Amino acid sequence: KSEMKADARTEGLKLTDNAMCVLERRYLKKDKQGKTTETVEDMFRRVARTIAMGELIYNPKADVRSREDEFFNLMTRLEFLPNSPTLMNAGRELGQLSACFVLPVDDSIESIFDAVKHTAMIHKSGGGTGFSFSRLRPEQDRVGTTGGVASGPVSFMRAFDVATDVIKQGGTRRGANMAILSIDHPDIMKFVHAKDKAGVLTNFNLSVAITDKFMQAVKDGVDYDLLNPHNGEVVSSLNASEVFNKIVHMAWKTGDPGIVFIDRINAYNPTPQLGRIESTNPCGEQPLLPYESCNLGSINLSRMVTVSGGQNTVDYKKLSRVIKSAVRFLDNVIDVNKFPLPQIDEMTKKSRKIGLGVMGFADMLLELGVPYNSENSIKLAEEIMCFVNDEAHKFSSELAVERGVFPAYRGSIYEKSGRPMRNASCTTIAPTGTLSIIAGCSSGIEPHFALCFTRNILDGTKMIEVNPYFERAAKEGGYYSEELIKSLAEGAHLDEVDVPQDAKDLFVTAHQIVPEWHVRIQAAFQKCTDNAVSKTVNFSRDAGECDVAEVYKMAHARNLKGITIYRDGSREDQPMSTGKAE
Ligand code: CDP
Repeated sequence: KSEMKADARTEGLKLTDNAMCVLERRYLKKDKQGKTTETVEDMFRRVARTIAMGELIYNPKADVRSREDEFFNLMTRLEFLPNSPTLMNAGRELGQLSACFVLPVDDSIESIFDAVKHTAMIHKSGGGTGFSFSRLRPEQDRVGTTGGVASGPVSFMRAFDVATDVIKQGGTRRGANMAILSIDHPDIMKFVHAKDKAGVLTNFNLSVAITDKFMQAVKDGVDYDLLNPHNGEVVSSLNASEVFNKIVHMAWKTGDPGIVFIDRINAYNPTPQLGRIESTNPCGEQPLLPYESCNLGSINLSRMVTVSGGQNTVDYKKLSRVIKSAVRFLDNVIDVNKFPLPQIDEMTKKSRKIGLGVMGFADMLLELGVPYNSENSIKLAEEIMCFVNDEAHKFSSELAVERGVFPAYRGSIYEKSGRPMRNASCTTIAPTGTLSIIAGCSSGIEPHFALCFTRNILDGTKMIEVNPYFERAAKEGGYYSEELIKSLAEGAHLDEVDVPQDAKDLFVTAHQIVPEWHVRIQAAFQKCTDNAVSKTVNFSRDAGECDVAEVYKMAHARNLKGITIYRDGSREDQPMSTGKAE
């Protein structure tokens, strides 16, 4: 009976079949026999209620019920969704609500295997982990206590990889890891080639932490020093351009390693008094200090469009209202979260970082009639993200007045500016791999991958999707036909089929967008994002290594915090693919 009531309250909740499939598999509660025991409405109610309870910590008389309804509506209207662990675990036994963690790995067996154990605990609850392995002594270095030789960072990474494999059988979702190694670590070349062979370190993304000094050495064509982290001694030197070219070659060949500009990340570290940032979460969008965690949430931009004067425009009033609720929601998450370790609880509550971002950007562009690879799209990206960022900061300031500033405020960048802040960072752009399926929108800030595609999700299930905006436009424009959809589904590009030119321009897909536009869009979003931006720069199969090198240099010049590229066909287990490639 409670189900009926819940359904009646959310008449408007319309989910795609894909969304239902994903939710039933991993998100909805099940009994011991594996039978689903909650509806989607129940799930949103469970999450809304749990997060609203956070209000009582600050005000025992708070109107929790109306706050619960506010959060419930926010989610059931698909205007905002919190990251997957919040949807899965809020109000349930695990209670772990964050997607992003960074763990320290120090140069001792104890520390390394503590980190493996902590990784397992985090993965069990659907969180992802990032590590810097830069503090480990290099391979072949002496081990004082045994007189033996050290295995080096890349060997130890295998222990994390195997642990991840084992945990993913029973956990809520496949765990993901980020491994970062400093460009001046003596094992850097081994690290750069670590994923050369297929099937190794499959649970890891790799990123090289590149310094501004290194980028200068690449420009100057000079050598740079490799340092033993154990004692700081110079071990040898390498030619910076040669190393850069090797990184480019491997990224071109396999997609790994990506790069992070570690100096830039630290230039924007909001709490430098707590330490230097060495790593990010698995997909690179969230730089964190060791033992810090962050909960993310994304606003669905495709729901932020309204008609004004007969034209579709961005509904900034609605967007502001959603940002206000979302910031409060994410701040509450920190307090009701059951952290997997006391150290994580402590560090996370010092800085109270949250990561509000956006998804459905490409959908919004279609509604506004703006091609992804156009100056107008860059302008919109900046305008929208700067609005989200400014409003999020404003509401975090208001929360600080109500609840107090984040405990590590003294010594933070905000103390200098004198602005009270509840959260050391407010904005992050996540990939929204699953959230975008649930919301039925385009993922993160990515362009549409194809107008018709087969999506591989969880455990090899395949789903076919036709872009609804394209379908509608084709029907309205009178060029819709079964054959058209069929040929697109089989991998034809829009350039190759008979549709009007303005439709070809507007419905441009990832592969037709040259890498420079991908970088420019990423840079436009990064401009007004506290943390970092998850984005893949797509290359066509026949792109050369020099094209990748160009993009890496451009990423540095355009102030990105990191970059990930993917050349079509370079990796077997590609998460999405069109037509005949299946
Ligand atoms: O859409 P959803 O909330 O499921 O996740 P996402 O936006 O695609 O990814 C956000 C973050 O969740 C990633 O950067 C990882 O930190 C974590 N994640 C993970 O640990 N394991 C996965 N299989 C997917 C995401």
